[in-house]
Amino acid sequence: MILVTGATGHLGANLVRHLLVSGQAVRVLLRPPRDQPAVAGLDVDVAEGDLRDPLACARAVRGCRTIYHCAAKVSTVAGNARHKREVYECNVLGTHHLLRAALAAGVERVVVTGSFSAVGHDADQASDESLPFNPFENPTPYGFSKAAVEHECLKAFADGLPVVVATSCAILGPNDFKPSPMGQLLLDYANGRLRAYVPGGFEFVAVRDLVQGHLLAMAKGRPGQKYLFSTQFLTIDELLGIYEEVTGQPPPRLRVPGLLIAGLARATDFVLDRLAPHAPRRFSAAAVRYLRMAPRADCSKAKRELGYQPTSIAEAIREAYEFFCHRGQIERPNRVAADPSSDADALRSQRMGAPS
Ligand SMILES: NC(=O)c1ccc[n+]([C@@H]2O[C@H](COP(=O)([O-])OP(=O)(O)OC[C@H]3O[C@@H](n4cnc5c(N)ncnc54)[C@H](OP(=O)(O)O)[C@@H]3O)[C@@H](O)[C@H]2O)c1
Repeated sequence: MILVTGATGHLGANLVRHLLVSGQAVRVLLRPPRDQPAVAGLDVDVAEGDLRDPLACARAVRGCRTIYHCAAKVSTVAGNARHKREVYECNVLGTHHLLRAALAAGVERVVVTGSFSAVGHDADQASDESLPFNPFENPTPYGFSKAAVEHECLKAFADGLPVVVATSCAILGPNDFKPSPMGQLLLDYANGRLRAYVPGGFEFVAVRDLVQGHLLAMAKGRPGQKYLFSTQFLTIDELLGIYEEVTGQPPPRLRVPGLLIAGLARATDFVLDRLAPHAPRRFSAAAVRYLRMAPRADCSKAKRELGYQPTSIAEAIREAYEFFCHRGQIERPNRVAADPSSDADALRSQRMGAPS
């Protein structure tokens, strides 16, 4: 039995589908409500509970040989004290509880999803696993928490648990039920609601590649090590160029200078962090900072040690678009890009487990 946490999330939904298609028995840790669309109709064993509850973690790991710990409270905002507490409890304490339960139950191996926001950055070189996280570079509470998650992994490893960290960049692709901020951006673009954009760049990972990365980390990763998975660096202009191709919609004309949007984002954050930390924000100050930094990822360790082979971000965006079309979330679908009757699309849907 394989335990997957975060199965209702973007990565977890794709990983669970992949494991099921390859004939594995899967258990998912679920918080109420149980009937979330990401897991509806899937042949999985359900362990109910929250990572913040050590007993729920102990129940969830019972009888499992391996664990993929994908769950996290993902956030790009500073937030108020309550928000920070939630990020700490879900990510740091949650990982602590799960890894301690795994140790007690004799689990053979755990893969924990890490974040590019907990990797060090240097303007002169691409970031790899060896660059230390800099706590003084103004990271978000989420970035801090993901660095502390790695610390929990190393502590559990020191105590004898074979644990590997699979670090993700910004995820793109199908089975994005919530949807993720990147999924929402594609939806807004496709539905004509993106009126302006900020220049910059980031490292993106196709969810298909990230799933492969997790499987490779489980099969071949050296315990106690971390592996970075990206598919491609793209400037935002390049990203929007792919969006245009896939959706048939023109990109927004208004390109807001980074400095201006950084000031606006700081002002918006000041108000929303205090009054509504969970309110959706197109650009938080931290997100703008990352885009302007345009950090690069070096995945050569994963390629060399695990045989990781990244595929295509354009394909991941196309699959995400088709997924949203199938779910009726695109108001005027681009029939060329999303014809569900075409053989290629049917095949792709099957592979990615998209609903028909
Ligand atoms: N999205 C990205 O671009 C990105 C980038 C870098 C790293 N990552 C990392 O990749 C992993 C997957 O991210 P994602 O985008 O797939 O996440 P997501 O879509 O935001 O989903 C988060 C998942 O974690 C679960 N979760 C959160 N807190 C929990 C708790 N206290 N107890 C039990 N379950 C809890 C959520 O369950 P509910 O449905 O119950 O809320 C959900 O299934 C995370 O570890 C994240 O840090 C993501």
